[in-house]
Amino acid sequence: MNERTHSEAEQALIETARRVLPAGSFGNLAGDIVIREGRGGRVRDVSGNEYVDFLLGSGPMFIGHAHPEVVAAVQAQIPRGTTFFANNEHGIRLAEEIVRAVACAEKVRFVSSGTEADAYAMRLARAFRGRDRILKFEGGYHGMSDYSLMSLAPKRPGNFPQAVPDSPGIPSSVRDEMLIAPFNNAEMAASLIHEHRNELAGVIVEPFQRLLPPQPGFLQALRKSCTDYGIPLIFDEVVTGFRFSYGGAQEFYGVTPDICTLGKIIGGGFPLAAIAGRADIMALFDRAVAGDDRFLTQIGTLSGNPVAAVAGLATLEILRRPGAYEQVFATGRQLMEGISRLLKDAALPAQVIGVPPLFDIIYTAGEVKDYRDWQRSDAEMQKRFNRSLRESGILKGDSKFYVSLAHDEADIRHALAAVRSAVEAEAAVPAQ
Ligand SMILES: Cc1ncc(COP(=O)(O)O)c(C=O)c1O
Repeated sequence: MNERTHSEAEQALIETARRVLPAGSFGNLAGDIVIREGRGGRVRDVSGNEYVDFLLGSGPMFIGHAHPEVVAAVQAQIPRGTTFFANNEHGIRLAEEIVRAVACAEKVRFVSSGTEADAYAMRLARAFRGRDRILKFEGGYHGMSDYSLMSLAPKRPGNFPQAVPDSPGIPSSVRDEMLIAPFNNAEMAASLIHEHRNELAGVIVEPFQRLLPPQPGFLQALRKSCTDYGIPLIFDEVVTGFRFSYGGAQEFYGVTPDICTLGKIIGGGFPLAAIAGRADIMALFDRAVAGDDRFLTQIGTLSGNPVAAVAGLATLEILRRPGAYEQVFATGRQLMEGISRLLKDAALPAQVIGVPPLFDIIYTAGEVKDYRDWQRSDAEMQKRFNRSLRESGILKGDSKFYVSLAHDEADIRHALAAVRSAVEAEAAVPAQ
């Protein structure tokens, strides 16, 4: 593996970024790398270093960067206009495809980001039920709204079901509108839903929370409690939608929510997300059906943007081809198994968790089923590991390997060699 180099041009951009951006970054990945281009499963930085890309733009680039069919679709649309505010054919066709693919989706409303989709999904549930409180799960991520930033990453977890705000600047009253439960504890979730059934507007969950698969029966228990009391169940499928299978996590795990949110893959690398759900609930977005008093107003300048819609449609077309998911799963499985073997052979206290399209190493040997188990992961070891992987030409987020249809055998070999180096370096770290 070649040494990473830093060109003067990249260094100058990093310094400009430090001058004009808080923390020198867009707020996402640290600003110590500036990406110039991406193609397939690889990206290059401004210095010319190449990386196998397991960041995938934080998930949207599931079929790889600059896929020729997506590029062609976008290039065909751009000279015809890039945004209209009014309905356009491509946005309508994309909504039609989502309704065809996703079990809970009888109607679709487009927005521009997952954050918005989740915030509207919660508002929709509140409007439908005529109640205020939402149950979410500790460690669950639903974007950056005031309501979502509750017990996402509490340093000192509170007593369930009390919420812990994740950011300053959130009105203190919001905290009381959210109830928090531990992920994968079906009994506690059922009992909290029962106890608060008369105040609850909805339950929102990532069906696969960050990297944590649901334990058998957990999603089914949520489904049952919500059905028993007529409380809308919201699956946040911003990550899992069209990734775990064409019908998303609801198809993969066989549990259908009342509402789901989608993002990332459906925009083909452009800003587009959606709320989708039962027709009677989604009808609140329709003044003619809901009536003036119950109508939920919702407008967005770029909603259903035609460039994003053609990119999304081209992406979905590729995913419908026979063998697409089998290929992603085979690639992910090879990586997960190869990494697990390397960790095991070195007897490191670390393990691979997740599913083939989305997994990572977690730096603890114990069972990990919820946020509090996850907190036992060794953060220093994770940093050393990720730093070593970057040096070996792997781009990834702090806690995710996203696998794409574009990753090939050479990418797998490169990734496993990089992990082997990181494991060897770790084995040489003196014990504390
Ligand atoms: C599960 C989940 N929900 C919501 C969001 C927010 O999406 P966006 O970054 O488009 O606002 C994300 C983003 O990563 C996510 O992972």
